[in-house]
Amino acid sequence: MNYWITFIYLLFTFSSAQDLNWWQTGAVYQIYPRSFQDSDGDGVGDLKGITSRLDYLVDIGVNTIWLSPIFKSPMADFGYDISDFLAIDPIFGTIEDYDELVREMKARDMHLVLDFVPNHSSNQHEWFQKSINMDPQYSDYYVWKDPIGYDADGNPIPPNNWLSFFGFSAWEWNEQRNQFYLHQFLKEQPDLNYRNPLVIQELKEIINFWLEKGADGFRIDAVIFLFEDPEFRDEPPSGNPNFGPDEYDSLLHIYTRNYNETYDVMRELRVVVDDFPSDVSKLILLEAYESIDLVMRYYGTAEEPIADLPFNFEYLLRFEDEVVTGTRIKDAADLWLDNMPEGKWANWVTGNHDRSRIASKVDPRLVDGVNMINLLMPGTPITYYGEEIGMINTFISYEDTQDPFGCNFGPDMYEKYSRDPERTPMQWDSSVNSGFSTAEKPWLPLNPNYLEVNVENQLMAEESHLKIYKEIINLRKELAIQTGELQYLNVDESLFSFMRVTDNPTNQNYMVLVNFGETDSVVDVSANSLVPPVATVVIKSLSSTVTVGSVLQTSAIPLGPKDSLVLSFNSNNP
Ligand code: NOJ
Ligand code: MG
Repeated sequence: MNYWITFIYLLFTFSSAQDLNWWQTGAVYQIYPRSFQDSDGDGVGDLKGITSRLDYLVDIGVNTIWLSPIFKSPMADFGYDISDFLAIDPIFGTIEDYDELVREMKARDMHLVLDFVPNHSSNQHEWFQKSINMDPQYSDYYVWKDPIGYDADGNPIPPNNWLSFFGFSAWEWNEQRNQFYLHQFLKEQPDLNYRNPLVIQELKEIINFWLEKGADGFRIDAVIFLFEDPEFRDEPPSGNPNFGPDEYDSLLHIYTRNYNETYDVMRELRVVVDDFPSDVSKLILLEAYESIDLVMRYYGTAEEPIADLPFNFEYLLRFEDEVVTGTRIKDAADLWLDNMPEGKWANWVTGNHDRSRIASKVDPRLVDGVNMINLLMPGTPITYYGEEIGMINTFISYEDTQDPFGCNFGPDMYEKYSRDPERTPMQWDSSVNSGFSTAEKPWLPLNPNYLEVNVENQLMAEESHLKIYKEIINLRKELAIQTGELQYLNVDESLFSFMRVTDNPTNQNYMVLVNFGETDSVVDVSANSLVPPVATVVIKSLSSTVTVGSVLQTSAIPLGPKDSLVLSFNSNNP
């Protein structure tokens, strides 16, 4: 290469790459701590377990861990019911174990994102106990209401018809205080009262505490539920015949979600995070299953940012449609990209601890293709533990069911709501309990397929989902993937294809093709003026029969059913 071209190339590389944050060039990996690695044989994963697996995460190329809650909790909702926001639950270890995890992560240039649960505490939190007792400071920490009357049997009647997300009334009677309290989730998760500034002050202190303890960000839970109608009006029925009167979706939630004040509080919390003195920029992930306009507002503006990455659930949900097509995936991607405020950054997520696993939502052969899209579209990928090896949902009998969301609805209906199937232990190897735990009975059973589907096998195999994942993630170092433009190629009912291109002719450009269809096809993408006549296969799905390194005519790219490919090309090619 000519000296000047090299120089300009380097200048370009450094200037654009340096403008990006660690969470933009990297990849987020979600760990459900109960299920990743148990170090002490009690059948539940823990912090020491996670620390012992850091080298694995480095090896697969992720730089950021989002940990579902590790705080003190009676575990009614497995950690999303927190009884002390400033302490580690003994089941996960000690604060020293936490410090060690942070130290070991920093030594590996990794970043820790903690789960922050502002909407509710546990009913065993000291605040709630004091609130029941009408302690002057804590009396209004939660949402308390008088009954609107008493029925014929003398039972108090709740203030309105609001339902808990987990089913049944959102109001629980408290004998001692002689009032109802609101819980938008379990009755063990009383909603905090956001109209009380003292509550907001508490949250700020919690955030500062964990920033001081080395966290580089937060994933904020259940944000849309923070505020409710000050008049406590009944919500109208949704009219959806698929839901009975006790099910959350039987109502339209116009009085319990997304108040303007919620955005204001989130903005205040962002300021606390940004004001924390640190040379590492912080990451805020935000959970809001909502319509696109409401979700986009959680990005905030350039002057007043809120979340860096509100989760892209529209995209996740398209994979739960009965039929997944190239067109639908493109529509979902565009819905996000076209609505995203100027200067913001996208994200791609297809699974988490609340949703069915991706390899169970789509044909398992598509695991590689979905990873290619998640990791190579412009934005940050979020991988749920096990997605890199293609873990699928696990059948859990009613007897083994742990999730209260499932248990609430009894043996006939638990499967509609239980989230246990996507929470089973990580599959490390083919030994007892797949190397997850030495306990006789882990807290949830292992998926019986662990004998084949596990990390060890996939590292040893010539080709595997895991090896493919590593190759894909490695491409995130490339300029075309970090900052290159996105252009779609052919998209139809079966095919989703796109390319990432830079305008610098010395860079490699990449195209990704995923066949969601059931039939063999030969794809012609050569009509695009940036596409040269030939391109080189750099990654192929397990299912594909083409050879990595082979050079294909871009007018005739062979894709078998559910196959996916990444090809590299140089737009300068003749
Ligand atoms: C959303 C969390 O992801 C879910 O697991 C939890 O049950 C609810 N919020 C309540 O915190
Ligand atoms: Mg343990």
